[in-house]
Amino acid sequence: MVYHTSNEEHSIDIVNIALLEHQVKARMETGAFGYIYGGAEDEITMRDNTLSFNRKKIVPRVLQGIDSADLTTNLWDISLKTPIIQAPSAAHGLAHNKGEVDTAKGVAAAGSIFSISTYANTTIEDAAAAAPNAPYFFQLYMSKDDGFNQFIIDKAVKAGAKAIILTVDSTLGGYREQDIINHFQFPLPMPNLTAYSHSGDGKGQGISAIYAAAKQGIVPSDIQKIKQLAKRPVIVKGIQSPVDAAIAITAGADGIWISNHGGRQLDGGPAAPPRLMFCQVLPLLWQNAYPLYLIAAFAVVNMCLKHLLAVLI
Ligand code: LAC
Repeated sequence: MVYHTSNEEHSIDIVNIALLEHQVKARMETGAFGYIYGGAEDEITMRDNTLSFNRKKIVPRVLQGIDSADLTTNLWDISLKTPIIQAPSAAHGLAHNKGEVDTAKGVAAAGSIFSISTYANTTIEDAAAAAPNAPYFFQLYMSKDDGFNQFIIDKAVKAGAKAIILTVDSTLGGYREQDIINHFQFPLPMPNLTAYSHSGDGKGQGISAIYAAAKQGIVPSDIQKIKQLAKRPVIVKGIQSPVDAAIAITAGADGIWISNHGGRQLDGGPAAPPRLMFCQVLPLLWQNAYPLYLIAAFAVVNMCLKHLLAVLI
């Protein structure tokens, strides 16, 4: 079956994310929309992420003598126009035929960091070349095959990745009811997988089958392994417990990415935002001035300031 991805190019007026979702839903194939939008099981954790962000309040400060707000910041000597960085997500080709190439351009225009996924629909090189001077991170789904790990990290480093995001929270696919109802399987290949001769390309597979080829038994020493392969900072993504935060830091992680994978693969865990506070306390006993990130579902990007999708401290 031929997959009809959009090739439309025009400017859009974005009033808010809820309205944008409606517009997108009307244009995308149901299965692809369900994959991008949907979470695991009853989607309780996914919804709790949004509710929890909505309940997060920021006390406005006044009398600060500020004419115009300056959101610029710096992470590992990378200058950013915004403290919000883009969370990795798979298969942007589902939404548009330019896939990650255009996401890279958009994120670069926003002055942020693009996190390209192992499961992208464009190669790391093509996404990097689309925004030549823009910083980007590479999101690694570690393989059982160390040959693949070496191969893909070498590619990412050669193409200029500033850090590796090691995702540890989704070693198995979730019970994703929308994918079951829609019989969703990836309709497009994932060229970062095909580039390595022994790998399948993801096309015609569901996310559970793709994860099955990745490593399930990730251990703390894998953090050092990836650091040695990449010679770049390694951010461990998918930490929710302060104990795990401490374990990852002790094992050499350069950053912790607080995340429940947007509730996309596991339902029933706590919302992400409060975990930031819990995970902050214990690791601080180990080490000060530690980069900590908070990212929720990639669907949740509205009211960015209020939601503080990425908090760099
Ligand atoms: C997801 C994986 C691929 O879609 O990150 O949740």
